[in-house]
Amino acid sequence: MRIATLTSGGDCPGLNAVIRGIVRTASSEYGSTVVGYEDGWVGLLEDRRIQLYDDEEIDRVLLRGGTILGTGRLHPDKFREGIEQIKENLANAGVDALIPIGGEGTLKGALWLHENGIPVVGVPKTIDNDVNATDYTFGFDTAVSVATDAIDRLHTTAESHNRVMVVEVMGRHAGWIALHAGIASGAHLTLVPEEPFDVDAVCKMMKKRFQRGDSHFICVIAEGAKPDPESMTLREGGIDEYGHVRFTGVAQQLAVEIERRIGKEVRTTVLGHIQRGGKPTPYDRVLATRFGHHAAEAAHAGHFGSMVALHGTKIELVPLAEAVKQLKTVPADRYAEASAFFG
Ligand code: F6P
Repeated sequence: MRIATLTSGGDCPGLNAVIRGIVRTASSEYGSTVVGYEDGWVGLLEDRRIQLYDDEEIDRVLLRGGTILGTGRLHPDKFREGIEQIKENLANAGVDALIPIGGEGTLKGALWLHENGIPVVGVPKTIDNDVNATDYTFGFDTAVSVATDAIDRLHTTAESHNRVMVVEVMGRHAGWIALHAGIASGAHLTLVPEEPFDVDAVCKMMKKRFQRGDSHFICVIAEGAKPDPESMTLREGGIDEYGHVRFTGVAQQLAVEIERRIGKEVRTTVLGHIQRGGKPTPYDRVLATRFGHHAAEAAHAGHFGSMVALHGTKIELVPLAEAVKQLKTVPADRYAEASAFFG
């Protein structure tokens, strides 16, 4: 069998571990070969591919961040217009199965290819952990570790200066990174996209803490969190060419409001792409390796139109349609659990 793989959308620690998992399994268990398309769907359309060998080189990428194949974004219209070209390129390369690795947008593309007759097995990826039908995605644990380490450090500088620190973490539609890093680092408040926040209530909580003599206040906020519009106006950033909302820096805008309303010194830290770069944690290496292994097995078994998913400790297959049905956001009860530690 000849398998093709590609990585699409934002990069994520663990992508290379998935690629290695696919190559090693395909080669050693089935004697199959693997090619990788460069820069996501764009490379597939432009027929830019490289042969991936089961050798020492592929073993070395296990702990490397980013993606050895490169990644990119392609507008859905251009992707759909290119269907005949994609079919031709896959046929010319003798590809029997395609394993795209990506987030919600990529998986929607994968489902569409499957519906158009291309044999596809998806692998979910995102540091945001917002892909439906899987308990976790690789990259999330790394992002939470990086964010937690950063917030741990902010505690000591904040308490030395009696300051409020507002730390912005990634999380466009889902606040999983904020929620987990907030709990792990003992943040005093965590704000997520799922629960609009009231700035007066935030300020009240901060004041109460300082009034009882505490030294500092750490507020973790997801980049996609929004204030209740009655309590504060957030600047609009518009929409980019892929239909994604452009963020305007919610942490900084909230910091200005807090200083104005309670007169405390506030500092802002935006962790940004630091959360996405660098080596995957051991947990992510294991999860990504298992996803790659099971995706290769699924391709050889002909389970097309499916995606590998983590359920408890097991890797199982779910229909791609199930995976893209909705985003997996933070449920109210999980947020309520975390909020028991606010203030
Ligand atoms: O989807 C993962 C993510 O890290 C989001 O949290 C973030 O908004 C986005 O990617 C940023 O992507 P980029 O700046 O690479 O386009």
